[in-house]
Amino acid sequence: MFSGPVLKGKVILVTGGGTGLGKAMARRFGELGARLALVGRREAVLRQTAEEFGRAGIETYVRPLDVREPERVAETVDAVWEHYGRLDVLVNNAAGNFISPFERLSPRAVDAVVNIVLHGTLYCTLEAGKRWIARRHPGTVLNIVATYAWTGSGYVVPSAVAKAGVLAATRSLAVEWAPYGIRHVAIAPGPFPTEGAWARLAPTPELAQHLEGGVPLGRVGRPEELANLAAYLVSDYAAFINGEVVTIDGGAWLNDVGFNPLRRLTPEDWDRIRELTRRPTSGGEAPA
Ligand code: HXC
Repeated sequence: MFSGPVLKGKVILVTGGGTGLGKAMARRFGELGARLALVGRREAVLRQTAEEFGRAGIETYVRPLDVREPERVAETVDAVWEHYGRLDVLVNNAAGNFISPFERLSPRAVDAVVNIVLHGTLYCTLEAGKRWIARRHPGTVLNIVATYAWTGSGYVVPSAVAKAGVLAATRSLAVEWAPYGIRHVAIAPGPFPTEGAWARLAPTPELAQHLEGGVPLGRVGRPEELANLAAYLVSDYAAFINGEVVTIDGGAWLNDVGFNPLRRLTPEDWDRIRELTRRPTSGGEAPA
């Protein structure tokens, strides 16, 4: 899809970049010429990823960070700027989530998810944006959301609320910061099984089947598919895309919408339904 180093010259900061989908996106950015700054809570994991990327010739700076700590976020953005002399793209990928009935959660459990997903995203965006505006440097923010940001979803209420907030931030700042040359885009991934997410969202085979079986295309996502979309959206090829969210889920969020659950009916069911639906109502007219 891409020819040449389409992200050459860009410095890209990825939160939660040491593992999972953050790592997959970061690797693709690096392969396409970007220099990377990866942050996450576990320094050893970050170092391991940086070494792996280094062997592939990808320049990677790492720094431990919990995005829930605003002062540390500010220090980190300064450190990245100092290290590379610039920052071009922020990818708000760090997330926290687990399935639970809402009434079973403690306030601290609510805070854990909302503080990572919503507050962490806002803190990182704020600190990157302030510096972009002050230095008259254009920037791009890519937020990772979920389709339940607009549908809502039971059993992941703190995450749904937080992702809805992140989507609102994407669309709000797309307008407010556009005059500064700062773009906002978002991706809503469907089921991309990763160790971190699946341990918390699909801890049994039945739950995994539930998540993975609801995709009209009949398979789960491949990390490189998400990574390619992310690379496009942060590249200059997407320079006129602003405030948009792109869903990449094989059609999963539409699976049970409207009459779509009827796909479970057999041809015999449809033969019978045809007879029933063709049967005239009394007087041959539609009922009032
Ligand atoms: C109920 C739980 C819980 C669980 C933690 N808590 N896990 N409650 N069920 N499974 C409660 C704890 O008891 C505690 O409350 C509070 O939450 C904080 O827990 P800590 O372990 O101290 O928090 P912390 O170490 O900060 O961990 C944050 C976390 C954790 C969110 C709880 O799951 C995490 O680190 N996750 C990061 C990775 C991740 O979740 N990735 C998935 C992203 S997938 P008390 O009151 O007992 O002190 C995603 C989109 C998916 O976001 C879309 C798919 C289609």
